[in-house]
Amino acid sequence: MTDTSSQHPFLTACRRGETPYTPVWLMRQAGRYMKEYRDVRARVGFLELCKTPDLVAEVTVTPVERLNVDAAILFADILLLLEPMGVGLEYATGGPVIERPVRTGTDIDALRDPAPEESLAYVYAAVRSTRAALAGRVPLIGFCGAPFTLASYLIEGGASRNYIHTKRLFQTDPGAWRALMDRLVDATVSYVNAQIEAGIEALQVFDSWVGCLAPGDYREYVLPHMRRLMAAVTPGVPVIHFGTATSGLLELMREAGSDVMGVDWRVDLDEAWNRVGHDVAIQGNLDPVALFAPPAEIRRRVKDILLRAGGRPGHIFNLGHGILPETPVDHVRAMVDAVHEFSA
Ligand code: CP3
Repeated sequence: MTDTSSQHPFLTACRRGETPYTPVWLMRQAGRYMKEYRDVRARVGFLELCKTPDLVAEVTVTPVERLNVDAAILFADILLLLEPMGVGLEYATGGPVIERPVRTGTDIDALRDPAPEESLAYVYAAVRSTRAALAGRVPLIGFCGAPFTLASYLIEGGASRNYIHTKRLFQTDPGAWRALMDRLVDATVSYVNAQIEAGIEALQVFDSWVGCLAPGDYREYVLPHMRRLMAAVTPGVPVIHFGTATSGLLELMREAGSDVMGVDWRVDLDEAWNRVGHDVAIQGNLDPVALFAPPAEIRRRVKDILLRAGGRPGHIFNLGHGILPETPVDHVRAMVDAVHEFSA
């Protein structure tokens, strides 16, 4: 297998080194906005796709070729780890569903140990086939869900607006909450370290829904578990820590100890970077809806974010959250080209 150079701009930027231009990739860059992806999905279901390494390699590499982005993100899902816990994971048309949500200490005790070293062997096989297909062109990012966001799916049974069951668990039974977080962190550590062993070159931890929490609850019920997770990741692979609606939590999230902080568009990039400190790299943060605007407006907004980054080493350009299914592909390409052109 060809090794990706550790000098690649994306990996260099994760370590806050000087790069010839600002590296860029997009969360959810493989997905339904792309015809090639829809064609594959017309033939195979989502979980079947995740479990077929050659198809994973194909849908992971296609956006790299079409968009000229500086990193690939493995095609998988944060919820795959929950399937071997025996809670009934389904990908329905309205989004993922957990058929038997956990709500009590008894439910948590009854969860199966997911044993990700064996149960998620298909993910590590996909990492190896994707690295081979990329042939060193760009680094491969692996990922996982953060324990809070995974717990919210386990407890609510799917997406949620107010996280009532999740918050009620830590408010009323902190011991059961801690037991659940401990189990999720243990499983996640095994899972991500096996991805690293298989060949991922950076790791993104998605705490997508953590922005629903008050700072005091984050500090007490989430931060200790995030610190334990970050500290247990095999050294040498940069870690990106991402959440949405986190502008009330950035300083606390920084304490978890990642190499890169991912921010959404609800906070200005320069303000976010000042707050977390310039001793950490930053990733973001174009509003995904800006990609529906005409390319001239997209270019204007790209330039604004680059100005806010101020040419300081350690900025990775990205959206502030995942690309939306109706996004025009040529607008995405215009965004990537604008990042490269203005930052060179
Ligand atoms: O970024 C990439 O291109 C890699 C693939 C990737 C997927 N999910 C594929 C996917 C990644 C990194 C994820 C992460 C993920 N999954 C997150 C964190 C990122 C975020 O958006 O906050 C979350 C919360 C999930 C859980 C999940 N999986 C949801 C909410 C959904 C339904 C929403 C949707 O986009 O349909 C999924 C399904 C899913 N995961 C799809 C894809 C491409 C759509 C499935 C399909 O119909 O093909």
